[in-house]
Amino acid sequence: MTTAIAHPNIALVKYWGKRDARLNLPAAGSFSVTLAGMQTRTTVDFDDDLAVDEVSIDGAVVGGRPAQRVSDFLDLVRGAAGLTSRARVTSANDFPTAAGLASSASGFAALAMAASGAAGLDLTPSELSVLARRGSGSAARSIFGGFVEMKAGARADGTDAFAVSVASGEEFPLECLVAVTVEGPKKVSSTVGMNHTMESSPYYDEWIATVEPAIATAKTAVSERDFEALARVAEASCLQMHASAIAADPGVLYWRGVTVELIHHVRELRADGANAFFSIDAGPHVKVFTVPSEAERVAESLRDVDGVVDVIHARIGGAAEVVA
Ligand code: PMV
Repeated sequence: MTTAIAHPNIALVKYWGKRDARLNLPAAGSFSVTLAGMQTRTTVDFDDDLAVDEVSIDGAVVGGRPAQRVSDFLDLVRGAAGLTSRARVTSANDFPTAAGLASSASGFAALAMAASGAAGLDLTPSELSVLARRGSGSAARSIFGGFVEMKAGARADGTDAFAVSVASGEEFPLECLVAVTVEGPKKVSSTVGMNHTMESSPYYDEWIATVEPAIATAKTAVSERDFEALARVAEASCLQMHASAIAADPGVLYWRGVTVELIHHVRELRADGANAFFSIDAGPHVKVFTVPSEAERVAESLRDVDGVVDVIHARIGGAAEVVA
């Protein structure tokens, strides 16, 4: 039996498109920050007495698609470890799933660590990242803390498609304010959204062509602690990803009115001299990055935007780890 924790992450250069659906291989890399103060905690116990995998999330036994996703993932671990026993999986998030923070990222990162540990596999961080990627593309990044680059890789088997640590949060301390919007997620899942973009958006190839140059710019901005440069490339990547999705047929539009208001609000803050930039994923909520000395003031101003129901304050967090 092994228990592991992992934190969500937010991509500053987005992942949006797969080069292989079965192995969940990204069409391009991505670049993210792992958050502190929020976590998924997952325990896995392989037990010969079980006839089927038993999955409970946030205190409730789950079936259907979520349970199947976990079972399919466990099959990968069983395959690698030569195990046939079923497992008891208990997982809990200490942050609201409705906050639009990809719980699949922290969820599959924690599951990869706990399941491989419980199965007796001794995986390197890169191997754990490859494994987590099979559950969810963004989960590959949550194996690591701080600033993280996901490599698209070139191999057909995906063994070179894993994340690497680029810098720690101490090197360039940022804070993330999640503006939770009134319209909850009536979701087109990221997999459905990105596949549909790939199949029907005339801008898909152009979007993919932006990614690797943006990662290089973001890495330079982090190494030079250049907030303005990071702000520009992160907002551009976010808007370019959403533009490709909006241009699909029919368009995939994750924004609500409040999302657009928040974009304007953050731009105005920056025009007034504040350090703040936005990022938006497959939902209506807006993540605002700022510096520690301005976080309180920026958070206050976000609370005043009509349609914002909560602002969650997070710092940069560490790697996933086995805790028991
Ligand atoms: O990991 P997935 O398959 O849920 O995809 C994540 C997609 C985005 O959150 C929109 C972007 C990203 O890079 O995290």
